[in-house]
Amino acid sequence: KNDSGKKKTKKPLKNALVCLLLLPRFLLAAVVFWLLDFSCIRKRVFLRMKEQGGDDPPLCISDSNRLFSVESLKAVWHGHKLDFLKAAHLGRGAPNTEVVHLEDQRRSRILDYAFQGVVQQNADIADSLVVYIEEAHPSDGWRSTDAPYQIPQHRRLEDRLNAAQLMHLEVPGCLVVVDSMENSSNAAYGAFFDRLYILQEGKVVYQGGRGPEGYRISELRDWLDQYRKGMEKSSNLVINM
Ligand SMILES: *[C@@H]1O[C@H](CO)[C@@H](O)[C@H](O)[C@H]1NC(C)=O
Repeated sequence: KNDSGKKKTKKPLKNALVCLLLLPRFLLAAVVFWLLDFSCIRKRVFLRMKEQGGDDPPLCISDSNRLFSVESLKAVWHGHKLDFLKAAHLGRGAPNTEVVHLEDQRRSRILDYAFQGVVQQNADIADSLVVYIEEAHPSDGWRSTDAPYQIPQHRRLEDRLNAAQLMHLEVPGCLVVVDSMENSSNAAYGAFFDRLYILQEGKVVYQGGRGPEGYRISELRDWLDQYRKGMEKSSNLVINM
């Protein structure tokens, strides 16, 4: 009894501490969003980003999107919090969270895929897996007019599976699974808005930055190129969330 009492007082305390630690970066993001709502600033910033671009997908925001809104700030806060509390850390054990198959709603775990592929001849040095998580821009939340589809927040697993089918149509060659409705993969990997990982033998060996700014396919490729030079095949898994 004593123990649970202690836990009860611990949780709000931890929450308050997390809020305090996140506040500076959240406020910074809020100010940046506010500034980017001035179209002259926005144009200049995106132009500069495009010039530096390389082969990563450019950040693209149509002029009609306001960045500074309750919904957007809520989403940014959510993303920062997930990132802060995530279980996945470079060099440590990879969280083996549950995901759901699109076709038959079979449940499996992320690391199951790392070992399946070792037998497959065509998997050259890594198997890849797309984990579809909660919508960054649900049509009933922080709407984006750039989004190719208008998808409301998933209320049930079926909603999530249906939305993921659209994604599967766009990348037919890629294995797509969905996060469970407990959002455990999203939480463990700090995936929201999007994120890249490489797992090797159950360990996190590459952790991309928080997307969209930190989502760098070029970094991923560099890692794999380096790896290809250095080593023979073992069980690598690239995760795209
Ligand atoms: C998981 O995310 C969905 C949004 O896609 C949300 O509706 C749901 O409440 C979340 N589940 C938990 C346990 O937080």
